[in-house]
Amino acid sequence: MAVFRQLFDPESSTYTYLLGEAGEAVLIDPVREQAGRDLALLARLGLRLVWSLDTHVHADHVTAAALLQARTGCATAVGQRAGVACADRLLAEGDEIRFGGEVIRVLETPGHTAGCVSYLWRDRLFTGDALLIGGCGRTDFQDGDPGTLYDSIVGKLFTLPDETLVYPAHDYEGRRVSCIGQEKAINPRLAGRSREAFVALMESMAFPLPRRIQVAVPANRRCGREGIGGGA
Ligand SMILES: [Fe+2]
Repeated sequence: MAVFRQLFDPESSTYTYLLGEAGEAVLIDPVREQAGRDLALLARLGLRLVWSLDTHVHADHVTAAALLQARTGCATAVGQRAGVACADRLLAEGDEIRFGGEVIRVLETPGHTAGCVSYLWRDRLFTGDALLIGGCGRTDFQDGDPGTLYDSIVGKLFTLPDETLVYPAHDYEGRRVSCIGQEKAINPRLAGRSREAFVALMESMAFPLPRRIQVAVPANRRCGREGIGGGA
């Protein structure tokens, strides 16, 4: 019986996902300040953490990857174009992450950042900030590109079965899950919009910079290593 938990960091509105099977577990997008919560949950569930995966270099929180590795010996991974040399594995399209007899498939979904990946496990898709519920990631920093994001979402994620569950890295309104069919039908940024119209829409939007970007991006390029020993 597989284990699945959706965990929330209220400070950054980040969802972290715990996947477990046969005594082994994976965390997707763990938040450094929540590592104690996640380690306690792993212990309570009797699961050994084998992978800490990030969907991308986050701008709004620091990853728990290095801290979890120091505590559990887990391996870390992120997309090959994320510019994170410290990760144990740099992931490319079609790569597989294995744990407890399970397989997670890697899909490269750039556009929010150049190095974004999504993870597909069973019927569940972990989209990071590429595809959000009723939205998508911004494309105005970290080598973001709206045309590339459109191609990732419409050209790749929207080709998955409609019933595939969509679990994003964030939601700011308490929504927890969507599915590909719903996002195709009613995502206001994407539904019925051409690539050109999507690019024009994204380029017309102005967003404030994330509050922690100056800290989070460099820290995440070092796997969130600062302040936990072992140097930066
Ligand atoms: Fe992001």
